Amino acid sequence: MQPEFWRESWELGGTKTSFHRPDIHPFVRAYTPDYFLRGQRVLVPLCGKDNALMWFRDRAAHVVGIELVSKAIEQFFQEHNLAYRKTADGRYEAEGITIFNRNIFEMTPAEIGRVDLVYDRAALVALPEDLRQLYRQKIDEFMHIASKCLLITLEFQPYLGATPPFSITPEEVQSYYSDRYIIDHVEKQEQPEHRMVQKFNLDFLKEHGFFLTKTAEKKTKNFFYSWQFRTPLKERSIISELEKC
Ligand SMILES: C[S@@+](CC[C@H](N)C(=O)[O-])C[C@H]1O[C@@H](n2cnc3c(N)ncnc32)[C@H](O)[C@@H]1O
Repeated sequence: MQPEFWRESWELGGTKTSFHRPDIHPFVRAYTPDYFLRGQRVLVPLCGKDNALMWFRDRAAHVVGIELVSKAIEQFFQEHNLAYRKTADGRYEAEGITIFNRNIFEMTPAEIGRVDLVYDRAALVALPEDLRQLYRQKIDEFMHIASKCLLITLEFQPYLGATPPFSITPEEVQSYYSDRYIIDHVEKQEQPEHRMVQKFNLDFLKEHGFFLTKTAEKKTKNFFYSWQFRTPLKERSIISELEKC
């Protein structure tokens, strides 16, 4: 996608930015609880004005966003009533949060600093196949051994053409990350009510959640991460109800 595509999207707003959620994504609430985020540095690539930035800011040691379009960043700070400082090199700074107004492909690990958790929602799926490969390498440069990534993808049929979002199957996620990452496929939700199903007359749409953990070397199989991260949301709410009895 050319930068102009995204600038125009943010300029036009409305349906052009309908990827923006007014809430915190339920996978964020479920998989990044307070104790998990304590002391962590979180990176949100292609962050838009995602409200999850506030979730991380309020719980983690620091959150770093990367966003091409300054309008999105300024809307984020205004909507959350956060006073910010803008540096000459295009950084927006406020307590607990830094957002780089930059193209992710031009950024270095030294600029971003330590990254313990990456939150990718509507980032990988926003990029066409050629850029996805570069993006995956970029994210890998930013992550240290044992850092984690909460990745949310969409899988749908039929193909919608060359504009985002792009459908990504779990097999494709495997092909991007399985060389260096333990991949835990923690959520797979059929979403017949998703706005895209009606809008594009889709046959189906599934939302997937993955927890990736970077390993030192090529690994061959997944192993148990924790019961909490392996039990899908629906079953976990049933378990919590049972625990109350
Ligand atoms: C589909 S939106 C998702 C925003 C956010 N992750 C969310 O869930 O609301 C993708 C965002 O990435 C930004 N973007 C696209 N290409 C980028 C790049 N190369 N570097 C930085 N940001 C980029 C766009 O401006 C847009 O705000």
